[in-house]
Amino acid sequence: MSDIHERTRAALEVARERTCVLTDSVDDTDLTAQHSPLMSPLVWDLVHIGNQEEQWLVRKVGGRDAVRGDIDELYDAFRHARADRPALPLLDPAQARAYVRTVREKTWEVLDSTDFSGPLAREGFAFGMIAQHEQQHAETMLATHQLREGEPVLSAPTAPRVGGGLATDEVCIPAGEFTMGTSREPWALDNEKPAHPVDVPAFAIDTAPVTNQQYLEFIADGGYERPELWSDRGWKHRLEAGLAAPLFWEDDGCGTWWRRRFGLLDPIHLREPVVHVCYFEAEAYAKWAEKRLPTEAEWEKAARWDPVSNRSRRFPWGDADPDEAAANLGQRFLGPAVVGSYPAGASALGVHQLIGDVWEWTSSPFEPYPGFVAFPYREYSEVFFGGDYRVLRGGSFGTDQVACRGTFRNWDHPVRRQIFSGFRCARDVSGKGS
Ligand code: AVJ
Ligand code: FE
Repeated sequence: MSDIHERTRAALEVARERTCVLTDSVDDTDLTAQHSPLMSPLVWDLVHIGNQEEQWLVRKVGGRDAVRGDIDELYDAFRHARADRPALPLLDPAQARAYVRTVREKTWEVLDSTDFSGPLAREGFAFGMIAQHEQQHAETMLATHQLREGEPVLSAPTAPRVGGGLATDEVCIPAGEFTMGTSREPWALDNEKPAHPVDVPAFAIDTAPVTNQQYLEFIADGGYERPELWSDRGWKHRLEAGLAAPLFWEDDGCGTWWRRRFGLLDPIHLREPVVHVCYFEAEAYAKWAEKRLPTEAEWEKAARWDPVSNRSRRFPWGDADPDEAAANLGQRFLGPAVVGSYPAGASALGVHQLIGDVWEWTSSPFEPYPGFVAFPYREYSEVFFGGDYRVLRGGSFGTDQVACRGTFRNWDHPVRRQIFSGFRCARDVSGKGS
């Protein structure tokens, strides 16, 4: 078997294991319930995962007959808003599980007979795309678990609490051109392409994501009460939504904050990155700290640019795939690690935890790179360009490594905070000598 064959099979298997953990850990009532109007019932995600796999791998790559040609419409994310999905005549849990199993058996047949030729299958792209799609939904399903009320059903070891590896608060990135995006990464999605030069003025960026301790100082200093720290839109949202702390934080009435995580209430851990903040909260914090959010280009330059070779790497630490020492990815832990826990994952210039732990809000709207070509479908990226979205970078503890790299781009509405979102700050520096 070829190397591509094995990598492809492994990526699909890892994704399915995750899907099973997330869908087998709840009973049928929980699987079909809507835990938040922001989310689909888990059983919808499950069949949608299988249906995308059927459409792309079984039908398009494999040229085989439909398994269930009648359900494409029901599981088309663009036809039915998430809030409306529970009312649809969805497959029941037993039918859903049988369906995804049948599709997967056919996928293995397709994989065993493909020669990885043609634009879709070249270097295993379509298989990698579908593994990424399943893992993206696994992260979405993890967010559904976080929103779900009731007894905990997921468990994992505590994320590293070693920390201590941060020599400075900030790192200065010198002015100059770097290569953003990729034309080489075989499983990169359309919005990451093509590689193109971007000239970035000198800036400083936080060595680590903003921590709960830092965020508590912002709250204690009246961060949520001072309109001058917020953008106009942000303040309006802060008032309408009644924001007073990150999502899932609870005040015990005696001045102490607790946070609910996958059904457990724990004290806030001060050295962990803050998570479940929206873009507007991140923006207000940055202003309070007399900084700003990084642009997407700044984030990527901090993550990928190696001043010694003057080239962009696949990951902050180099070109090797992530391992357990490099980053907190893949739902190995059910939360971010304290800052400084991943010295082996630092970038060439010493910026830590860019990959994994928490998605990081950037100040950039989601736009195509120059030379963008939608592939293989417009609905992955193109229809979102120019919308009310901000780019998030780097992946979270809930993101699998197949769906995370130095070039990977995520996006969401600036009000969203059920995602595993945090941020780090940046600031301008004078180009000369500083
Ligand atoms: C890239 C995470 C914004 O979940 O809406 C899943 C990924 N696209 N199915 C999303 C996706 C189609 C997408 N994000
Ligand atoms: Fe999807």
